[in-house]
Amino acid sequence: MEENDEMKVEDICTHYGEDYSRVLGAVVPPLFMNTLFTRKKGSYGYSYTRINNPTTEIAERKIAELEYGEAAKLFSSGMAAITAAIMYWLEKDSHVVTVNSVYGPVREFLGTYLSRFGVEVTFVKNGTVEEFGNAIKPNTKLFYLESPSSNVFVIQDIEGITKLAKQHGIATVVDNTWATPVFQNPLRMGVDMVVHSVSKYLGGHSDIVGGVLIANSEIINNIIHNERALFGGVMDPFQSWLLIRSLRTLPLRMKQHQENAMKVAQFLSEHPKVSKVFYPGLASHPQYKLGRKQMKGYSSLMSFIPRGNLENVRAFIQRLRFFEEGPSWGGFESLINTPGVGVSEEKLREMGIPPGLIRIHIGLENVDSIIEDLDQALEVF
Ligand SMILES: Cc1ncc(COP(=O)(O)O)c(C=O)c1O
Repeated sequence: MEENDEMKVEDICTHYGEDYSRVLGAVVPPLFMNTLFTRKKGSYGYSYTRINNPTTEIAERKIAELEYGEAAKLFSSGMAAITAAIMYWLEKDSHVVTVNSVYGPVREFLGTYLSRFGVEVTFVKNGTVEEFGNAIKPNTKLFYLESPSSNVFVIQDIEGITKLAKQHGIATVVDNTWATPVFQNPLRMGVDMVVHSVSKYLGGHSDIVGGVLIANSEIINNIIHNERALFGGVMDPFQSWLLIRSLRTLPLRMKQHQENAMKVAQFLSEHPKVSKVFYPGLASHPQYKLGRKQMKGYSSLMSFIPRGNLENVRAFIQRLRFFEEGPSWGGFESLINTPGVGVSEEKLREMGIPPGLIRIHIGLENVDSIIEDLDQALEVF
């Protein structure tokens, strides 16, 4: 397939980055499940799978193209990609600004782990350009964005914050896991790096743990030899092979996730047993306009607060037939999790999570079945 700037998402996901002539015309690429590449008869450009691997490179080419980036590198988890991205930009005694509702382990990495190297963090609440601006110090090296953010889906003005960052020589990284490259492309808004947990929608089948980092070629070449090769958190070829399979249906899956989620969010927002819904696709979301400006669509992770006795949350979960209880999201299945229940008020305040918050992921089941299920279970409140 020819490469050009105007490739459609579906065409990238199906054929882009694959050279059928090199692999006997096989429509599904082979799995190069090997540690090393020999070179007595000449090198093919590969040496060791911690550095590069032909199967992994197919998935990397597709994701780079989807994100309008020059290059991408796959990691063994989202956290491996994120910590590599953060370490790339920081030095001893650097300062970072991020939202307080950033994904918990990232919060811990920045706020606790990196403090041993003198790294300081400012957590802002609403993620506005003004808040980021007010937080700048002489040693600020990085604005770490996650838009929309975890659990409460605070949307950050990617273009505005990036512009401000450039004026001050500060780098920008965006976690784009929630929106996926189908619905949001931060590199087009000027950011330096995009990261994803591949374990969510990009994998989509709840059978891959992985991460990816996308940036320009110069940055990626540096990362290949430093943060990825030295920390060693590289995706294994079998996971990459599964990921190529997953990417082929990414646009289709996202379309269905969006359609299902919009209906569920609407249903919940009108339900008498629900006091508040957090979902960027609802016009009632406080940053709905900004979301419309920088995203082309919405995925299917949302949260809500039930109206009624929170002691009934366990009974609510037990009564659900279509929702399993568990962490993670972005797979084919509907899931429920309770970040706002059973945690101290102080901790919740720190993480920007309101008490009683229930998070749901809307899967690819029939949407009427999902809504009926929620409706009958909400009766417990
Ligand atoms: C928004 C977000 N970013 C990053 C991660 C980390 O990804 P992984 O679990 O693949 O390390 C997660 C995981 O839940 C997440 O929700």
